[in-house]
Amino acid sequence: MTRNHDLAPETLAAQALGFVDPENKALVPPVHHATTFERPPGGISGPGFSYSRNDNPSYTQVESLLQRLEGGVDALVMASGMSAVTAPFLALAPGDHVVVQNVMYWGVRRWLKTFATRWGLEVQFVDAHDLDELRAAMRPGKTKLVWVETPANPLWGIVDLAAASEIAHAAGARLAVDSTVATPVLTRPLEHGADLVMHSATKFLNGHSDVLAGALVTAAKDDYWERIEQVRRDLGTVMGPQEAWLLLRGMRTLHIRVRKACENAQAIAEAMDRHPKVSHVLYPGLPDHPGHEVAKRQMVGGYSGILSIRVAGGMEASLAAMRRMTVFHSATSLGGTESLAEHRASTEGPGTPVPDDLIRLAVGIEHTQDLIDDLTQALDG
Ligand SMILES: Cc1ncc(COP(=O)(O)O)c(C=O)c1O
Repeated sequence: MTRNHDLAPETLAAQALGFVDPENKALVPPVHHATTFERPPGGISGPGFSYSRNDNPSYTQVESLLQRLEGGVDALVMASGMSAVTAPFLALAPGDHVVVQNVMYWGVRRWLKTFATRWGLEVQFVDAHDLDELRAAMRPGKTKLVWVETPANPLWGIVDLAAASEIAHAAGARLAVDSTVATPVLTRPLEHGADLVMHSATKFLNGHSDVLAGALVTAAKDDYWERIEQVRRDLGTVMGPQEAWLLLRGMRTLHIRVRKACENAQAIAEAMDRHPKVSHVLYPGLPDHPGHEVAKRQMVGGYSGILSIRVAGGMEASLAAMRRMTVFHSATSLGGTESLAEHRASTEGPGTPVPDDLIRLAVGIEHTQDLIDDLTQALDG
């Protein structure tokens, strides 16, 4: 008999960890809408579920799968990617120093520059691709957390996770990785020494652009993880049971979706690289991308389903190309089945490090040639 712990990740995901309802043998779990659970006789709360701001069987099912896929010891699902980003910072104390990548998902950068700074964290932004710069930023004893995203929005820089975790640990800090774009299909950051993995599960994990969700997975159940749990419990940033159920359903097809999106993105990157109206293609799957060698080491089976192109002719030419797209939808987000295009500089606003000729392409699972043809006609005008 094959034991559950011998099974490959795609088998675990496809079968939601082999779920079979113990009472009625259903192969799909129910949604546990209950917010309160009966206590043991005597009324004193004990182990088990008590109240859904703390826990709920619909969260634990999807958490168990995430924990297995990432190779961690525990996981928490949250109301959104942003609640999963902010909890590890809110679990620190005012005065703590944190080192953070400077080009990454802009919503995180904005929150760190405003709320986190007002709350008293000392936030230092660095180019985390430059390991010397990262090392120089560390303040042993004072730096508590290093936060990186890889591949990082929207220029798709690659951070060397093994090196970054060594640098963080040498200074007594933890490494947290926003792995939304890589997913556990392509990279398992804990295997490279990271302490925490974060996902906007709104993206590839759920994969159908119909759930807002976040997740954290930890390498250790320690005081810090307890404080993160407390943030979720006390701020109430829990995921609803219906969303948890949808997320578990979406994750059953995670592996085939991510593989197809990678295949499409690689083919698009190569086609765009040959297109005369494209001045740059930013995709770690191309051999001339500055992060390609590191990506080859730490990403297995592909380089994710998202890339950016820079259009010769500047902002006007890039907006004109976007207006001509018919298969790519003009919308934000990534990781869904449908392909999206976005002019990131105008989304991010003043102060963005993103060039104004850049279009971010979040590639879906459609037929490859339909996507290439759409981009080609849009660029050809
Ligand atoms: C890399 C990354 N991290 C975090 C987030 C925030 O996630 P959410 O929108 O689910 O709150 C996003 C959202 O776009 C993202 O792309």
